[in-house]
Amino acid sequence: MYTKLWLDYETEDSGASVVFDELNPEDGKIRNALKELKRCSFLKDKTVRLRMIRDESLREEGYHIYGNDPEYTVEAASETGILYGAFRLISLIRLGFYEVREVPANGLRMLNHWDNMDGSIERGYSGNSFFFEDNKLIINQRTEDYARFLSSVGINGVVINNVNVKGEACRLIDERHLPQVNQLAELFSSYGVKLFLSLNYAATMEDEHVGSADPLDPGVRLWWERKFDEVYEKVPKLGGFLVKADSEGRPGPFTYGRTQAEGANMLARALKKHGGILIWRCFVYNCQQDWRDLKTDRARAAYDYFHDLDGCFDDNVVLQIKNGPMDFQVREPVSPLFGQMPRTNQMIEFQIAQEYTGQQRHVCFLIPWFKQVLEFDTYAKGKNPGESRVKDIVSGRTFDYRISGICAVSNTGNDENWTGHDLAAANLYGFGRLAFDPELSAEKISAEWIRLTYGDNEKVLRNLQKILMMSFAAYEKYNAPLGIGWMVTPSVHYGPDPDGYEYSSWGTYHKADCRAIGVERNASGTGYAGLYPEPNASMYENPETTPEELLLFFHRLPYSYVLKSGKTIIQHIYDTHFEGAEDVERMAELFGELRGLIDGKAFDRIEKRLAHQLWHSKEWRDVINSYFYRKTLIEDEKGRKLY
Ligand code: GCU
Repeated sequence: MYTKLWLDYETEDSGASVVFDELNPEDGKIRNALKELKRCSFLKDKTVRLRMIRDESLREEGYHIYGNDPEYTVEAASETGILYGAFRLISLIRLGFYEVREVPANGLRMLNHWDNMDGSIERGYSGNSFFFEDNKLIINQRTEDYARFLSSVGINGVVINNVNVKGEACRLIDERHLPQVNQLAELFSSYGVKLFLSLNYAATMEDEHVGSADPLDPGVRLWWERKFDEVYEKVPKLGGFLVKADSEGRPGPFTYGRTQAEGANMLARALKKHGGILIWRCFVYNCQQDWRDLKTDRARAAYDYFHDLDGCFDDNVVLQIKNGPMDFQVREPVSPLFGQMPRTNQMIEFQIAQEYTGQQRHVCFLIPWFKQVLEFDTYAKGKNPGESRVKDIVSGRTFDYRISGICAVSNTGNDENWTGHDLAAANLYGFGRLAFDPELSAEKISAEWIRLTYGDNEKVLRNLQKILMMSFAAYEKYNAPLGIGWMVTPSVHYGPDPDGYEYSSWGTYHKADCRAIGVERNASGTGYAGLYPEPNASMYENPETTPEELLLFFHRLPYSYVLKSGKTIIQHIYDTHFEGAEDVERMAELFGELRGLIDGKAFDRIEKRLAHQLWHSKEWRDVINSYFYRKTLIEDEKGRKLY
């Protein structure tokens, strides 16, 4: 059995009386809305009217909910709006009802699963896949519950297979799997969620009559046209495809001397008549770099490959850009591509799978960090505030994108609690809520999640919220310092190893020696800082104006450099690492006070993970601090133990 997370209400048929108004009770989404309202025993004496209205301002997915106990009305202009509204009404009643009129800010609100068909999950930290096992698709009650979770927070798209498409996953678009893919697409669709698949760009290579993946080869184009005709005949509700090309060993158009746009458009054109969209990732960089080559800067790669192609992509292509220029490190600047391709659809990719943020063994509530990214002003439209923050760009507002939005690499698996760490479910819930409404605060989102999951006990709310809200900052403190990133154990990406990626081929260097640390990315270095529009370029150009949490990302500085706090860099490193571990101690204490107040099994699971996190944060502290102490031989001013 598995937990039902924030939808853990009784399932007997005892909920609300539901009245239909101007809608078809046979529609799948309406039936699911009804089913959900009937599940909630706390709606027993209440009446809910579901009403379809003509109101363009509510668009496809908005709703208006009003009423007074015991009668409530959900109005929407589509079945999807009614379903989202029904879920929203349920949580509003549980949290304290007030009237709302809500329309999602972002068109695409997606989760990307990195699930493989053998059942493993790339960077999965919560068990195996619940989509695949033994090279087959799984569809069962768990799949439906997952669709309910997504729908309840307004997530409207899901990619079920890994971007690295290997083995049997290359055949997901073949006849043998399509009937089940269709079943899944129908199931998700009845919850307002579109199904997408990751695609092997070089699939045509395996057809001996084609034998190429050159996007300009007519044989290749014809092959994809026929393939998509077949796929859409069997799976008419498929949303489209996600492609990782020319990246980390995945094939792509570069092999044929073609651009990323030529590659993407070839697929997009074959999809067009089916209404499908093509999500093309910008995670393209040279992973065979020589660390001795001081000119190449991985941070520049996506910009250098894509920026000049603005306007060259078809209108059913959307570029999926990781939030930062490297790879989901705990702190990175915002990718300079945001705001600088006004004629090309863009969406942002976050990662709630905690690959570099504690792998769901550490509590690390990511919503405060995502908010910082979304609030970042790119100044793409000049200095007018509020026109071109990342959230304005990815919502499509700034440049009137046809397709845009937010996605995250999912953190779920078939563990009993879905997310490995019980508290990691806050990232799943939080991501959905934030994608729907980026104006929500991290405090509000965390409070909602805690109350919906653990009930209304004040102490539970207070302590869990403190833990969540301090967790990201704590993690950053005991991790690599000042935006430098990458001090993790190679390949597993868990635990400290300061030089683990230093002499590797992945373009991930901090260049610490006995005098200085950091990468010069201003005009005297790799020029990366200059990729941003003003005033950001100038801000990053000088250490004095660079936000200090990113100081070593942009600048190479001596350990004696004095920060705004009056501390030297080396003292800052020592202090933050001691503080980070102390913060985790505090988190464990706060949690300990909840014994008896939350379900025993869940309590034990969380307590165990916090104990591990506490040990591991000390490991991080001591390894990082000792590394810098040994490099510099500078003593800690406070005389604490260094090794
Ligand atoms: C990271 C991650 C890989 C993943 C890649 C991607 O590098 O470690 O496992 O495939 O990101 O986003 O494609």
